[in-house]
Amino acid sequence: MIKQATQIALDAGEILIEKRAAGLTIEHKGSIDLVTDADRASEKYIVEQLKKCFPHHGILGEEGTRVEGSSDFLWVIDPIDGTTNFAHGFPYFSISLGLLRGDEVVLGVVYNPVTKECFAAELGSGAFLNGERISVSKIETLHESLLASGFPYDIATTKEDNIKSFEIATKVSQGVRCLGSAALDLCHVAAGRLEGFWELSLHPWDIAAGSIVVTEAGGRVSGCRGQKFRPLGHEVCASNGRVHDELLALLTGVEP
Ligand code: IPD
Ligand code: CA
Ligand code: CA
Repeated sequence: MIKQATQIALDAGEILIEKRAAGLTIEHKGSIDLVTDADRASEKYIVEQLKKCFPHHGILGEEGTRVEGSSDFLWVIDPIDGTTNFAHGFPYFSISLGLLRGDEVVLGVVYNPVTKECFAAELGSGAFLNGERISVSKIETLHESLLASGFPYDIATTKEDNIKSFEIATKVSQGVRCLGSAALDLCHVAAGRLEGFWELSLHPWDIAAGSIVVTEAGGRVSGCRGQKFRPLGHEVCASNGRVHDELLALLTGVEP
């Protein structure tokens, strides 16, 4: 399945690059929440291919796809994770394909079509970047860590705006990046380029695929207050494992 999912992500990446070159149609789903014709074209393509390859599987896609399967497999897909970046031409966005069996993520593929980096993992088989095995970093403290986080689209109105945590983490680490694609951020933790990443108010399609890339690379995922990670939930705290408890202590010590 991982071969097929990888090929679908690579082909969807081509669609994104072509659509961008041709000129995008950009609409607003919310005041700062964008969607483009490329998001829709990418989702349409991915769904067609998944249906062809896995006719019994369910599919949940950000741009509206809800396919009821006749098995316990569910694909959770984001046709562009990082649409704001994509729309601005900032080269940090991805296609994210996660596969759940029941409550457990069993496969994840995350592809950045600009850098041509494809992250993939299958339960029990390790995590890979363009076919090479990757693993999390060995850094032990937040003081030595590079972190990432992000802010919700309703930042202007929500109490859970993440700003206090962001401020404190910035002061105790080597930096907190706000890069704009949660799926890629998770994969950078897996590749040992970041020690940790957390974010609230996410969606399953942002976190399902990246979470298994982290755990298969030897890292840890949980909720932001140490709860069990839920792939169909709305938050994630991911790390190289070594700084996890320190990061959780920081996040639980502040109102978000
Ligand atoms: C967004 C990205 C971003 C995160 C947002 C997500 P989208 O996904 O993952 O990094 O901060 O919360 O919604 O809307 O570009 O698919
Ligand atoms: Ca997303
Ligand atoms: Ca998206």
